[in-house]
Amino acid sequence: MLPVLLLLLGAPAPALPAGPHWAYEGPHGQHHWPEGYPACGGRAQSPIDIRITGVEPDPSLPPIHPEGYESPGASLLPLSNNGHTAVLELPRSLRLRGLPRSFAAEQLHFHWGAAGGSGGAEHLVEGHRAAAEMHVVHYDAERYGNASEAQHHSGGLAVLGVLLEVGAAPHPAYANILRHLGSIRYAGQRTSIPPFSIRALLPPRLDLYYRYNGSLTTPPCFQSVLWTLLREPVRISQAQLEQLQGTLYSTEASEAEPQLLEGNFRGPQELNQRRVLASSPKAPEGYSTGEGIAIIIGALGSCIGLFLSIHLVGKRMRSMRRTQEQDIVFKASSRRGPPNHSHP
Ligand SMILES: *[C@@H]1O[C@H](CO)[C@@H](O)[C@H](O)[C@H]1NC(C)=O
Ligand SMILES: *[C@@H]1O[C@H](CO)[C@@H](O)[C@H](O)[C@H]1NC(C)=O
Repeated sequence: MLPVLLLLLGAPAPALPAGPHWAYEGPHGQHHWPEGYPACGGRAQSPIDIRITGVEPDPSLPPIHPEGYESPGASLLPLSNNGHTAVLELPRSLRLRGLPRSFAAEQLHFHWGAAGGSGGAEHLVEGHRAAAEMHVVHYDAERYGNASEAQHHSGGLAVLGVLLEVGAAPHPAYANILRHLGSIRYAGQRTSIPPFSIRALLPPRLDLYYRYNGSLTTPPCFQSVLWTLLREPVRISQAQLEQLQGTLYSTEASEAEPQLLEGNFRGPQELNQRRVLASSPKAPEGYSTGEGIAIIIGALGSCIGLFLSIHLVGKRMRSMRRTQEQDIVFKASSRRGPPNHSHP
């Protein structure tokens, strides 16, 4: 089973999974996963449908803090098609903080819907399925040497989930990945892409998220994931969504009948006894000292600004009046006679 895990987690070398074949539909579809992968039948599986009424607000949850995401180094990043999704391997220098321990990045990958369809995210919010979902997989680098080891242990992995919705404009950071999908059309193909800011793939607000304990959403479904689902979606264009839905095949180049890789999302799993926590907004309430000072300076600045504008408007009015007076004096004097009808 180990080779499957290594590949799933983006370990080096050929991108094709071994172990029992699995798919989303059909005889090897998700309802049959537990037959070959027992953990898939567990009681703490992912994804889930997040129902707002069942969520517990937890003000102690700090904002997520990605470190090193802006500049992931100078090396090209390996991108592959593993027959189930597109996987971008990430350097270990990317760290996710704001979690109980320090987690190192491993890879990111995507889940999307049927070509021409709309919904393809894995996590639902109030039953709503977003267009697609990105998962950034991390492992506990304090306790484990790598992700394949960490995934066997509770809390060994931390996955950051980002919901993708369709908006008007193409998203430039996502274009950095999507434009290379044509090079990994068939299962098992790999390429390398120029590094770019991984932070730019995330929504602006990292203080708003849902947190729960769950699993990998694909076989072997190990229940070792501390989930963080960001509440703000990121918007990509309809054309970008179609690139994701319509470029890749789940079959190898040598296979006679190419199968489009689409609809690679798992249905919602039972919550059972688990809790789902929600972070509280951190920015507007509870100003830090720095923010307080900034606000005072801002307010002072506004006062000075107001004073200056009143002063300048006054000055300008005075100077306008002076100009008018001078104008009258000039007109009067240009008549070569004593100004007998001069009045302001
Ligand atoms: C991961 O760590 C384990 C335990 O230290 C080791 O046996 C294994 O070879 C490592 N795997 C990879 C892919 O580095
Ligand atoms: C997740 O599990 C850990 C222990 O394994 C526990 O300390 C933590 O409170 C759980 N988190 C949630 C959100 O239930």
